[in-house]
Amino acid sequence: MSLQFALELARSAGEIIKEGYFKQKVISQKCSIADLVTETDTKVENFVQKKISEQFPTHEFIGEESVSSGAKISFTDSPTWIIDPVDGTSNFVHRFPFCCISIAYAEKKKVALAVVYNPILDEMYHAELGKGAFLNGAKLSVSDAQNLSSSILCSEWGSQRDATMDTKVRNMHKAVLASRGIRSIGSAALSCCMVARGSVESYFEYGIHCWDVAAGELIVREAGGVSASPDGSPFDLMSRSVLVSCCRQVLDETSACIERIPFDRE
Ligand code: IPD
Ligand code: CA
Ligand code: CA
Ligand code: CA
Repeated sequence: MSLQFALELARSAGEIIKEGYFKQKVISQKCSIADLVTETDTKVENFVQKKISEQFPTHEFIGEESVSSGAKISFTDSPTWIIDPVDGTSNFVHRFPFCCISIAYAEKKKVALAVVYNPILDEMYHAELGKGAFLNGAKLSVSDAQNLSSSILCSEWGSQRDATMDTKVRNMHKAVLASRGIRSIGSAALSCCMVARGSVESYFEYGIHCWDVAAGELIVREAGGVSASPDGSPFDLMSRSVLVSCCRQVLDETSACIERIPFDRE
């Protein structure tokens, strides 16, 4: 698969995000006050979907805003693009400079190519299976911390405002007591990239979707990190949950802090 195609696609999509970032925005609410969508999310997704279908007419496409408008998620062995047009929409709305486009390409249900681009900071992360992870062309490595007690974590409150919040508070409480601190940067994809670049040691979240972490999870593994479900079982892209860490020990210790939150798959 063409890395060049994906990098150029991310850069062009980034131009659209950057153009919208400083403008007055048209904002709608989806399922809660923390679940927003703007005209830029839709514009970027339409642009990316069009480019992919022109270049690869037989490939499948999973995109957040298409699914929000009723498209079914079809994750099969076929070549599939998994796209989050703007990850960190609340940040985008508030001009908190952590928003990105996330592009993953999967074959036989395995992500083979990942690009995450933050156009505001002009930070382009990419990884190809077996070829390492890079930030603006420079090779990335995870932190060499070996314990949670010498780690900083990322985790998120997510966009739902419902009964799952009580467990999220308990998880955050346990995790903050066992570590050097927790950061919530408002983007699942960029939280993964923070682990990949060695700026934090772990990131966990319940409630994410496949488009939030498909690219970021590969970028972490290619930077030398590990991934799982928060309960420690193997990572499953459709499980609505993620845990990525710099090493197995930190992953296991993070997992031990987290209570499971049930979510329907996909
Ligand atoms: C959200 C962000 C946020 C995470 C939510 C996601 P969006 O994605 O990644 O950090 O906590 O679970 O839904 O809506 O900005 O694309
Ligand atoms: Ca969203
Ligand atoms: Ca997202
Ligand atoms: Ca999004």
